[in-house]
Amino acid sequence: MEKIEVVIASGNEHKVKEYRDILEPLGIKVSSLKDENIVLDVEENGKDFAENSMIKARAVKRFTNKIVLADDSGLCINALDGFPGIYSARFMEGHPYEEKHLAILEMLKDKEDKSAYFICAMSIIIDGEEYKLQGRVDGKIVSPKSKGNGFGYDPIFLPSGEELTFGEMDEEKKNKISHRGRASAELINFFSKL
Ligand code: IMP
Repeated sequence: MEKIEVVIASGNEHKVKEYRDILEPLGIKVSSLKDENIVLDVEENGKDFAENSMIKARAVKRFTNKIVLADDSGLCINALDGFPGIYSARFMEGHPYEEKHLAILEMLKDKEDKSAYFICAMSIIIDGEEYKLQGRVDGKIVSPKSKGNGFGYDPIFLPSGEELTFGEMDEEKKNKISHRGRASAELINFFSKL
């Protein structure tokens, strides 16, 4: 059988490496936009994560016959009607995450409901067929205990049933239960069936 090749629709080399680690053990070749000489600036103007990931995947698919995989993820806080949601990266852009954490804690200070969840939506296009996968992890927003590791909103997210925030958890444990980890498990299942 011909080797399956997947182009990751992201300019983020770290993300490409993560997908390489997930897919190469399945015998799938993973390439970046750079490898394919694709230069893009896509406006992510979808209404949710799934739409935004499909917008990115479609934009890249115009330049390649290979399989395209795109993702979009973020944090949704129930008492704030899902904010920051698809604006997770853009909220207070240019400010350090410590400041974003404080702003969120301030917005939540009079709200009883601190529940929140992370979503990771993946879109895959194979020839003309479009597929969508999703991973989700539920939890709540807490004050950061220590700086901890992790990135983004990790230090203020405590997953349900856990004692450590994503920021305090080791990476292996986070990957097992995270939105991205769960979507990646779906992804492995998807490609194993091809
Ligand atoms: P992206 O779509 O994967 O680039 O993620 C968009 C934004 O969502 C990131 O810049 C972070 O602010 C936030 N985010 C997504 N996943 C995580 C996570 O696992 N931990 C913390 N923040 C995350």
